[in-house]
This record gives sequence, structure tokens and C-alpha cells, in this order.
Amino acid sequence: MKKKTRRPAKATGAKPGFSRRNFIQTVGIAGVGATIPLMQGCGTTESGPDIPAEGVGPTPVDVALNVNGQDVRIKVEPRVTLLDALRDHLKLGSADPVDLTGSKRVCDRASCGACTMMVGGKTVYSCTTLAIEAQGKEIRTVEGLQENGTLHPVQQEFVACDGLMCGFCTPGFIMSGAACLEKNPNASRDEIRRALDGNICRCGTQIRALEACEKAARRIKGRR
Ligand code: FES
Ligand code: FES
Repeated sequence: MKKKTRRPAKATGAKPGFSRRNFIQTVGIAGVGATIPLMQGCGTTESGPDIPAEGVGPTPVDVALNVNGQDVRIKVEPRVTLLDALRDHLKLGSADPVDLTGSKRVCDRASCGACTMMVGGKTVYSCTTLAIEAQGKEIRTVEGLQENGTLHPVQQEFVACDGLMCGFCTPGFIMSGAACLEKNPNASRDEIRRALDGNICRCGTQIRALEACEKAARRIKGRR
């Protein structure tokens, strides 16, 4: 019988048996050199902002973020992830509520990619990136891809290719595809496939996601 091969651990620093709680305790509270978990095929590991050696928290701290070109301030405990900060705290903790629930929490442990955002031009799993680490960097979510009401080519092709079923994985796939094509509009099928490698679709539309990104690449190239 053919032996099943396990999916390789992603380049997020997350190891089998290394839980999100471990990650938050060691990175956020102890204040060691913070590292944003990057996804496979998206570049090298990037250092986060300096965190004092004595650590921060556990009480809420001021966090200033730039999301989709907009500066926002929230007060959250340093253990709060970027995903939770944007999905929950922006809405609750702000006088001028911003509703950013496009990025989805599915596995909540850096293995499915549904929470993918761009931070400083690189894709990250926002469920294992602390909000305090993303300060001083440009954060982009799926809501920020459209321009003046026109969807990003990758978004348009997901619609045209019927690239979703339940839709939970879709924002993550779109962010990974858009990041790949913004970096390299001439990306080959294999390069696009590698960029999407950190995203999983449980409904089985993985192949349509790939097709949508390939068509988006052609559309982007046609515009140039
Ligand atoms: S919810 Fe973040 S990787 Fe799955
Ligand atoms: S469309 Fe359901 S998980 Fe991808």
C-alpha cells in the first residue's frame, strides 16, 4: 500500500507540536527578537519591530497600525494576534469603527492560510503574527486590494472561474495570488503554485484557485 506523505511544515517557524500558545508566550510576552511568520515561497524571514528586553504587557498597550493605507490605533494586550486585532478590536475599540472581517480564522495555527495578509509586502499568517509586530509596516487585507471600487484582477478571476465553494479559504488564496503577481506578473504556473502552497482548500477548489491566478496574470500582463 502506498504510504501517505505528511504535508511539510510551513516556513513559519511553527513546528509540529508547537502550539500557538507557545508561540505567543515565547515571542510576545518574553520579548525575544520578534519574527513575523512568513509563508512558504514568499521570501526570507523578516525581523519585526524592537520589543524591550523586559517584555511588554500583559496589560493592554497602544498599538498603531497602517491598514489598507489607513492609520488606526487600538489598545490591546500584546498577546493579541493581527487577525484578532483587525477582525475584532478595530470594530469594538474604535470611535470610528472599521469593519475588516474578510480575513478568516480557520485553523488558527499557521497551517491553512485562510488568514493570509500582506505585511510589509510579504504574505504572513495573521493568526500567528502579533499585532504589535506589524507596527510600522504596511498591512494589506483582502478588503484593500480593490482600487476605486474595481476588484483586483485576482478577485475578478476568482469570480469568473468560480474559484470558491464555502469561501473560507478564498481571501487567503486571493492574497497569496495577488502578492505573487504584484511581485512578478510573469510568474509561471509553477511559481504561482508555490505561492499558493501555504493555502489549503477543504472544498477542493484548489485547482480553480490556481487557474484564477493564472488568468489574472494574463490579464495583468495584457494591461502593460
Ligand atoms: S487561520 Fe491562520 S493559517 Fe489557518
Ligand atoms: S472553498 Fe471551502 S475551503 Fe476553500
